[in-house]
Amino acid sequence: MPKHLSSTEFNDATIAKQRAELLSWYEQNKRTLPWRDIHDPWATWVSEIMLQQTRVASVLEYFDRFMTRFPTPSALADAEWDEVASLWAGLGYYSRAKNLWKGAKQVVNEHNGEVPSDPKAVLALSGVGPYTAGAILSIAFAQEAPIVDGNVIRVFTRLYTIGDNIQDSQTQKQLWGLAETWVKGEKPGDLNQAIMELGATVCTPKVPMCLLCPLQKSCLAYQQADPLHYPYKLKKTKKRPIEVYLGLILKKCSSDTDENERYAIYQRKATGLLGGLWALPMLLRSSNSKPVKASEYAVFFPDKSDVSEFLSPKISPKAQPMVKHAFTHKEWQVWPVLIDVSQQSERFINELEAQLALSFSQLQWYSIHELDALALGGPSLKALIQAGAPLKARRGSGR
Ligand code: ADE
Ligand code: SF4
Repeated sequence: MPKHLSSTEFNDATIAKQRAELLSWYEQNKRTLPWRDIHDPWATWVSEIMLQQTRVASVLEYFDRFMTRFPTPSALADAEWDEVASLWAGLGYYSRAKNLWKGAKQVVNEHNGEVPSDPKAVLALSGVGPYTAGAILSIAFAQEAPIVDGNVIRVFTRLYTIGDNIQDSQTQKQLWGLAETWVKGEKPGDLNQAIMELGATVCTPKVPMCLLCPLQKSCLAYQQADPLHYPYKLKKTKKRPIEVYLGLILKKCSSDTDENERYAIYQRKATGLLGGLWALPMLLRSSNSKPVKASEYAVFFPDKSDVSEFLSPKISPKAQPMVKHAFTHKEWQVWPVLIDVSQQSERFINELEAQLALSFSQLQWYSIHELDALALGGPSLKALIQAGAPLKARRGSGR
């Protein structure tokens, strides 16, 4: 039981009373749904898979059609995938359909076409996790098997004012434990569905209708007048963006035409971020002062060279406005910096090249024309565009 509760708030007699009130509410208020009040584990399975990540209203359109075409696991197992997919089209999350189809084949091959009632066998079915297993076992086989979904979590965290982060495994464990304590008696399937139904229709996320709720008298969140504080979910803190410099390090060959202007470029390691793509020399920015000072770009240059040499007017690095690049789980703030070394001595350029080659694999000098045809990473492409490099093929694109 939740640690902060007293034994008067949480004991068998209290739960028995709440259970009875909830069940009688469910009897009178449950929505009539095609997968309710039938005793067919296959229908329960199909409906519960369809209901994951999909609203009841959308499932209604699909369920009957699907069950008419595939009334048994073997009917589905015999079907071609394309037909299954076409009957699922519009529900989304096709992997659910694929797993259901595989699960049906399993039932045919391993259980003579009958959905098993043994908990281990049910859990072993393709696409069936603890939630779906609990639903099949309790609804179709009247076993006292707990289930926890978003609705159950909302009802329990409010009922018992559980304020812990619901993503923590400890909290999850506690919620499954509560569900297990609750799902006792003759109608475990109805009880599980009653908790979910309450969450879906009364104990709703934004506007719970506590005055209509059969659990109101014993609900701790209601007594404390703050159901909306539950469930608590730790907000993902936005990570600080990573600041990098991308050097547009430019040298010119003998003549002065654009084609002879070449940028230093390297190929990233095959694995990891931007794996295998070509990129401008990249350095992490450690200072976070704004604006970026020209002297920060010293990092691109040979240790041995006199810093004042490249900061001389001849190659003063030109900072460009920052561009952002979002990856799935992080963001780069890219500071492109134009560093023209074409007026430097050959010795300086050789030293620079040797220095860059130490940090950047496969270092090459490519013309803008060559870059245009290369598999360039998004940040480098954006940096080049930001700096006004005349990329023809992909101007304006950023990925
Ligand atoms: N949500 C998913 N399955 C449900 C069910 N059987 N009853 C109520 N809500 C649900
Ligand atoms: Fe949810 Fe309100 Fe019922 Fe408590 S009283 S379970 S907050 S609807």
